[in-house]
Amino acid sequence: MIQHGKYLVEAVALCGDCHTPKDSQNRPIMDKWLQGATLAWVNQLSYKDWSSHAVSLVGLPEGWKEADMVQYLETGMLPNGGYTKPPMPPYRMSHKDALAITLYLESLKDGNNSETDKKESATKSGEESSTLFDK
Ligand code: HEC
Repeated sequence: MIQHGKYLVEAVALCGDCHTPKDSQNRPIMDKWLQGATLAWVNQLSYKDWSSHAVSLVGLPEGWKEADMVQYLETGMLPNGGYTKPPMPPYRMSHKDALAITLYLESLKDGNNSETDKKESATKSGEESSTLFDK
């Protein structure tokens, strides 16, 4: 499942194109994979209502639960209602794909955490995922 999410993020939805910082040659900095980035090209366009800062996705955005992220990728709708500013695409993914990406993004966090955090989040996401799957 996590592998499928990784594939979708890396090869299909290309989240990293916007959410990973780039070096001066415009190559993604892999040490900072999905840690959030400023989109210089958006600033150059200076479109009103576009956002040039793509947030960090490692371990899901601050305060987001697994179900929030799944809903967001399925509907484009934010946890508190409303939509994200462009150029973030309002994805309409299948439940399976949305869940796979969510689990993959959560799994990225484990590397940076202490042992206790790791255990806690593993149990927690395990429980929540099975609930999501039954729907
Ligand atoms: C074309 C560039 C682009 C791509 C591709 C992209 N994003 Fe984003 N994303 C953004 C920008 C810019 C923002 C910030 C928007 C804002 O500040 O309102 C954002 C915001 C987000 C947010 C926070 C939403 C909010 O309003 O709090 C999440 C979660 C997110 N992206 C997940 C993803 C995932 C997962 C993928 C791949 C499946 C992805 N993004 C692909 C540009 C992109």
